[in-house]
Amino acid sequence: MFAANSQQKLDWKESMATGKLGLALSTREIMALVAKDLEQVEAEFRLESVGSVEAVSQIARYLQSNGGKRLRPILLLVSCRVFREPSPEAIRLAAVVELIHTATLVHDDVIDDAKTRRGKPSANVMWGNHTSVLAGDWLYMQAFQIALRLRNFEVLDLLITLTQQMVDGELLQLELIGKIDVNEADSMELIDRKTASLFAACTRLGAIAAGAPESEQVLLGEFGWNLGMAFQLVDDVLDFTSRESILGKPVGNDLREGKVTLPLIYALAEATAAERAKVGAVLRDGSYDNVSFDEILEILERHDGIAKARARALEFTAKARALLAKFPNTPARSALYAATDLVADRDR
Ligand code: IPE
Ligand code: IPE
Ligand code: MG
Ligand code: MG
Repeated sequence: MFAANSQQKLDWKESMATGKLGLALSTREIMALVAKDLEQVEAEFRLESVGSVEAVSQIARYLQSNGGKRLRPILLLVSCRVFREPSPEAIRLAAVVELIHTATLVHDDVIDDAKTRRGKPSANVMWGNHTSVLAGDWLYMQAFQIALRLRNFEVLDLLITLTQQMVDGELLQLELIGKIDVNEADSMELIDRKTASLFAACTRLGAIAAGAPESEQVLLGEFGWNLGMAFQLVDDVLDFTSRESILGKPVGNDLREGKVTLPLIYALAEATAAERAKVGAVLRDGSYDNVSFDEILEILERHDGIAKARARALEFTAKARALLAKFPNTPARSALYAATDLVADRDR
């Protein structure tokens, strides 16, 4: 799904998502629904990410051209289409959420000292930490500049609250870094802030841009929130199960970065002292030099960590789907329904 750019390569699996509520939609059909809108979003993003200092424009262009699923603008646009065709304001907001997403990725890669993003060296590797932090700041502010043009305080309030939540998420993450005793509640709170908040904002903004009643804005926001929770849980699973060539970032990265995510939390709850010690060693070393990634995978396997985390993700997509039942059966609703399957089954 969710590939942008001129190539229109279907980066996501072209799986069929069969919704009980509506038509069966494939990735291609979802894309067809918003392809034209998305072209405008890409143009807006390109136009609006040109700064007076070359480094900012370069970083924005670099990240834009390196791909990405464009999931957040797509969700905003499809959510809008549940009610009506996107207006120019909706297109703008879709560019705004992708700009915010891009800014968080630039900052996140500095914080995580990441080396790879979207299959290419990350911005911090290419331009260094100092430039990347400032470019991230610039991108945030540009997003707000564009949003400001809508002269809509509700939208600004939502975007500011959202950005603070995402920063809270990164701060919470830092507090938990290197800790082996992270519990499920901590992990959920973190995911709520760093990922689900943005998904909720996207779907809610789609409804706001469509002029939908408040109650429907709230419902679509809840849909996005549940989808976002599932998305990050699947991301945490993929960090163990996928391949760098597919994911565009290294596997086993979370634990190496000091992050104990839900699959490991579940496994650690039942692990032996020796197994705990192995996980602890990777956290301490920040590498798999003394304990291999395969050994960690074995621990996960023995205690069903992956299966349990996946099951938790599916609970969120089920909740998301249930919320959709409250909307009339339209192609856009079917697309949102299909997106829940695609998020659950995604491999990148
Ligand atoms: C990456 O998001 C950050 C997370 C929330 C895990 P995506 O996986 O949507 O990143 P792109 O935009 O497709 O590169
Ligand atoms: C994702 O955090 C970035 C945000 C949602 C702000 P992670 O650090 O878990 O994601 P990746 O693995 O770098 O994409
Ligand atoms: Mg990261
Ligand atoms: Mg991650």
